[in-house]
Amino acid sequence: MQFRDFDIDGFLRNYWQRKPLLIRNPWKDWRNPLEADELAGLACEEGIEARLIEQASGQPQRAWQVEHGPFAEARFDRLGAKPWTLLVQAVDHHIPDVAALITPFRFIPNWRIDDVMVSYASDGGGVGPHFDQYDVFLVQGCGKRLWQLGSMCTSHTELLPHDDLRLLASFEATEEWILEPGDILYVPPGIAHNGVALGDDCMTYSVGFRAPSTSELIAHYCDDVLDNLQDDSRYRDPGLEAQANQGEISGAAMARLNGMIAEKMLDPAAFAKWFGQYNTARKYPDIDWRPEEPVDIEALQSGIASGSPLRRNPASRFSFFRQGPELLLLFVDGQSFECSGDVVAFTELVCSNDCFTLDRDVAASPPVLTLLKTFFDQGSLAFDTED
Ligand code: SIN
Ligand code: CO
Repeated sequence: MQFRDFDIDGFLRNYWQRKPLLIRNPWKDWRNPLEADELAGLACEEGIEARLIEQASGQPQRAWQVEHGPFAEARFDRLGAKPWTLLVQAVDHHIPDVAALITPFRFIPNWRIDDVMVSYASDGGGVGPHFDQYDVFLVQGCGKRLWQLGSMCTSHTELLPHDDLRLLASFEATEEWILEPGDILYVPPGIAHNGVALGDDCMTYSVGFRAPSTSELIAHYCDDVLDNLQDDSRYRDPGLEAQANQGEISGAAMARLNGMIAEKMLDPAAFAKWFGQYNTARKYPDIDWRPEEPVDIEALQSGIASGSPLRRNPASRFSFFRQGPELLLLFVDGQSFECSGDVVAFTELVCSNDCFTLDRDVAASPPVLTLLKTFFDQGSLAFDTED
């Protein structure tokens, strides 16, 4: 899926993380990539995160009823007249045509991309006025949706008491548009928004991004630092001099104590390795994507030699960090690999293309072959079987 034309630099300069943007059908040839029945089918599968939200009449906080999947197929026969919406997370991991929706947004680095959530709503259905912590492109798949935008929210913004939803206690629309198939609304983090289906058969694709919070980074990095610390790494003060007042914690002691923390927490190389692994860990690690049989190295070589394209698993995460001019750290699904020599070009290729072919020479390199086998065997990479 491609855009006819889209000013990437202008978007990044003026809108990304700054303000909303309505983009009227920019696709070369928009076609809704998923049927409602297929979405309902996914919502019935174990391991797929799905929610069904129904709006009854009554007090605002009671009006929104949330059920979590997996659902029994019969559940969808019992949907009444009240507006409802079905939301399924990470549909891109399971449906290649939905994964293809991310392609035109690939000007944003891999490590910021989260997933594509899909919603299907009946007339009047929606998730209510709320704000998200993340950037999102809301792509209208089929049907129509009224999108209303409100003001910027913060952690102090008042929410309705609800166990499952973070609905705004008050919402006033400052702008609104009706989105038709192919139209896109970009919403930056924190902006209040409300989407209401106009008529049945309203499908919206949320191409969502992620950005770690400071508390998440500190908490998870601390765990990693702690895992690698020994008990005898401890404060020491040989050459201690007698103090005028034994009650004082001296400036020198305080600086040394603070330095113990800084030394472990602020090591850029250790942080880079940890962050790449942390950030590329799969979103749903319990799903096993391994092929039935480990790949045969000769079959791998002959597939590459015959020019068969390779495709990254859409559920896999690939990124790299440049440690030096000739040394890259490749991160794939929570693991890191030091890459130099022949492997550098391979790393750059696999991280910037979800589907690619390899030169015979590159694939003849033993370290590249070893990596390929690792990625095939863990289900991160496979020969492309699509048309
Ligand atoms: C929806 O598709 O109904 C909700 C998407 C969102 O507001 O983030
Ligand atoms: Co939202």
